[in-house]
Amino acid sequence: MRSYSVRKRVLVTGGAGFIGSHLCERLLEQDADVLCVDNFFTGVKDNIAHLIGNAHFELMRHDVTFPLYVEVDEIYNLACPAAPIHYQFDPVQTTKTSVHGAINMLGLAKRVKAKILQASTSEVYGDPKVHPQTEDYWGNVNPIGFRSCYDEGKRCAETLFFDYHRQHKLRIKVARIFNTYGPRMHPNDGRVVSNFIVQALKGEPITIYGKGSQTRSFCYVDDLVDALIRLMATPDGFTGPVNLGNPGEFTMVELAKKVLALTGSKSELVYKPLPEDDPMQRKPDIGLAARELGWKPTIPLDDGLRRTIDYFRAREG
Ligand SMILES: NC(=O)c1ccc[n+]([C@@H]2O[C@H](COP(=O)([O-])OP(=O)(O)OC[C@H]3O[C@@H](n4cnc5c(N)ncnc54)[C@H](O)[C@@H]3O)[C@@H](O)[C@H]2O)c1
Repeated sequence: MRSYSVRKRVLVTGGAGFIGSHLCERLLEQDADVLCVDNFFTGVKDNIAHLIGNAHFELMRHDVTFPLYVEVDEIYNLACPAAPIHYQFDPVQTTKTSVHGAINMLGLAKRVKAKILQASTSEVYGDPKVHPQTEDYWGNVNPIGFRSCYDEGKRCAETLFFDYHRQHKLRIKVARIFNTYGPRMHPNDGRVVSNFIVQALKGEPITIYGKGSQTRSFCYVDDLVDALIRLMATPDGFTGPVNLGNPGEFTMVELAKKVLALTGSKSELVYKPLPEDDPMQRKPDIGLAARELGWKPTIPLDDGLRRTIDYFRAREG
């Protein structure tokens, strides 16, 4: 059913989460009608409290493992816990969220002829043998480990997206998101940026796993949201998958030292054993995103860290 409103109606699943809340905000700025759907497993109302009261924002408590009947023009499917301690808490539910969630949202997109974007992940590359990772690399993923509920769930979701595209001619977009950070990250979900910042602000030891020589790339959330919106706006012929992330590469020790310098903390670094299947290197090749979306990240790590530190400082009091 078409609406008489000229505003685009956009569904964001996982909209009360870290990335989802920033995306809802940006879509509202661009005059969309935003429907935020979340089961509040890891998302919190505080993330979107400032949007409640906006006539063009609607919040619905719903679990995407169940079908959803709404009328929308575009769907951003972000619902899924993203941090290991969250997705390993109930691994069966994690796989269900990725797989049943994808089936339900694709079914919805098919029924209402909406365009649909999947928030996939660099974890589909597993512990990569190719560096930096390009989209044509099929990955090196353990199918039976503790991280598999997330990695394989996301891989299966990608499969479903492409099968709906081929079989039902759905307009799909698949984003492979690399480490993203910024305000509204969970303070204690074990992810490295929030972990380091919270430990530094509290003056607690900063935990480094292994020797701290493993590298990661970090994309500031505003850059990522910009890329997601550009991806959704690409012509129907472009489906992705497309890597979205910041190719700047830092070791864990380098990141810890930056956080110490920017917070002025005197915390010491402590070293613990590496968790299972922890990749040694992660860095996106973003050539495709640059060509197809005209996008590259603009916010340097120091600036993004400063903004994130300000957020946690205010939050931690
Ligand atoms: N943050 C990153 O670095 C990163 C990297 C790669 C991919 N991603 C992907 O981006 C998306 C958002 O990640 P995030 O970092 O904002 O995580 P997040 O945990 O903050 O957000 C996920 C949101 O999904 C909701 N959710 C979980 N299961 C649900 C369900 N069954 N039904 C409805 N809602 C559900 C949560 O309550 C939460 O609000 C995820 O799909 C994640 O896999 C994130």
